[in-house]
Amino acid sequence: MSLKHKDLTGIASLNADEIMQILETADSFKEVTGREIKKVPALRGKTVVNLFFEPSTRTRTSFELAAKRLSADVINFSPSNSSVVKGETLLDTARNIEAMQADIIVLRHSSAGAAETLARGVKSSVINAGDGWHEHPTQALLDLFTLREKKLELKGLKVAIVGDVAHSRVARSNVYALTKLGANVRVVGPPTMMPACVERLGVKVYYDLDHGLRDVDVIMMLRLQLERQGRALFSTIREYSRLYGLTPERLKLAKPGALVMHPGPINRGVEIAPEIADGFSSVILDQVTNGVAVRMAVLYLLSGAGN
Ligand code: CP
Repeated sequence: MSLKHKDLTGIASLNADEIMQILETADSFKEVTGREIKKVPALRGKTVVNLFFEPSTRTRTSFELAAKRLSADVINFSPSNSSVVKGETLLDTARNIEAMQADIIVLRHSSAGAAETLARGVKSSVINAGDGWHEHPTQALLDLFTLREKKLELKGLKVAIVGDVAHSRVARSNVYALTKLGANVRVVGPPTMMPACVERLGVKVYYDLDHGLRDVDVIMMLRLQLERQGRALFSTIREYSRLYGLTPERLKLAKPGALVMHPGPINRGVEIAPEIADGFSSVILDQVTNGVAVRMAVLYLLSGAGN
């Protein structure tokens, strides 16, 4: 069993069957992660290199854990301690790593399109672990996995994605993934944080959070990316929080039992109230747990180990 692609650079290049293949493969790896000995020999002899040019807690750690649980050799490459600081380019860096027989390169980079560029320049498989504002495919896959695990039928599911949609790679990948599997997706946020012509992606646009939350099954909150767009897109954080923050009162507008998701890291008290982040509606830590199984599935399917 494998994917017909060499790389995973975005959800846009996957069809619904391929997304389901990854989720179903992750089902069996979730079982492995629940065992006392959380390891299988599937990628023994393979080398996975984590190449993270931006900070990460969840994605980098879970790719490392995923590769180790598949028995791969794992290298965590740190650009700040490498010849990148002497001016070596991304492509030259990756080609040198590839020359040491790396089978899979996991890349996080601040530039949209960096993973595609790298995938064209090396023979190793490239997995996009987040590229600028473009895509974060494994985040969307673990989000879908979590919804399925909670016994939600994705077809017809009403999902509100709330916040800075324009600058969110998580939002973009989730819009692609959810719409491909038949969910009804709304994007909710201020006009300054909404991409032009976003309706063309098959979503409904809401600028008012109270309207956007009405009767949804799932609320996916986005992090306010203070390090990227600065403060130019809203007057104050307090104002943003008043208009677009998820509070217990607003949660009541969604369907009873609605789930609350967030890719992390969360800005407590900004986009989400702490009592919601830590409350019974939240599946935020389930998302993190499931990231390991989903990344095991992606590594396994791209490695061709199952052929
Ligand atoms: N969700 C996510 O990408 O988190 P990290 O930036 O910590 O990897």
